[in-house]
Amino acid sequence: MTDKDRKLMDEILKIKDKKSVYIIAHYYQRPEIQDIADFVGDSYAMAVQAQKAASDIILVAGVDFMAESAAILCPDKTVLSPEPEATCPMANSISVNDVLGFKEKYPESIIVSYVNTPADIKAVTDICCTSSNAHIILEKLPENSRIYFIPDQNLAFNISSRLGRKVDYFESFCPIHATLNKADIVKLKEEYPDAELLVHPECHPEVVELADYVGSTGGMINYTSSSPKDSFIIATECGIIHPIHKAAPGKKLIMASEEMICPNMKSITLNKILYSLENMQTIIRVPEEIRLPAAQALEKMIAYSS
Ligand code: 13P
Ligand code: SF4
Repeated sequence: MTDKDRKLMDEILKIKDKKSVYIIAHYYQRPEIQDIADFVGDSYAMAVQAQKAASDIILVAGVDFMAESAAILCPDKTVLSPEPEATCPMANSISVNDVLGFKEKYPESIIVSYVNTPADIKAVTDICCTSSNAHIILEKLPENSRIYFIPDQNLAFNISSRLGRKVDYFESFCPIHATLNKADIVKLKEEYPDAELLVHPECHPEVVELADYVGSTGGMINYTSSSPKDSFIIATECGIIHPIHKAAPGKKLIMASEEMICPNMKSITLNKILYSLENMQTIIRVPEEIRLPAAQALEKMIAYSS
């Protein structure tokens, strides 16, 4: 970390305290951003924490759907995004018409949306899920119901094979997690035979099949700190290395690929956070006619997960 970063961090901490802003960051954020946050978590924990935060102003350091989830769940709070252009290409790959078209064909179907979706998609959703609770949500849905899982085909396939339950799904994927292939992982496992393989469920099923643990970013961190093993191959975005080092110091971490960098997550910087706090920009607003049904889908997820 540079002296310039340290100076910026001090300035952020001062202004954040002065204005009583609560900063929530995702595990893929740059290390220095995770270090100035009041709370760092996976996408589920971020949404729940936004509701719990005592402050009236929340700054979300993460991609747009994360800030939107906070705005949807906390209508009485001001939700700031330091970089509203930071988005998730997979979340944006599906349109409301795609969902309504499926619903028209199969009116009895249950729409399950990954939280990586924009607010207007959540508004036509029955229940949301994240990578930490998708299996819990699906298990609680009526046994013979027809499920349309959107928009991540890998998460859909991985959860449906884990539960032995058929789901229809939208064909899209995360461009970062989809870069991993089986051959590379097999090679790494041969190179590091004592390491456990931790895989995010957005990866291809052929990679997930090789895993010792499959779960959300938060799940991976808990796993490494409780496992007796000393080394781990990490198959998710590189930002997770920093919180694992903090939670499980001394453990050896091997990135499955050095190219697993989400440019949208990394487009948030200390400078942008400082500017956002100084100018109270950008406030994330979700129109009430979208917020209300979207909040129902998120609240239902929270109720089913707890
Ligand atoms: P988590 O819910 O595991 O934090 O994942 C969010 C995400 O965008 C993964 O790419
Ligand atoms: Fe979206 Fe993938 Fe980036 Fe997560 S890592 S925010 S799924 S593009």
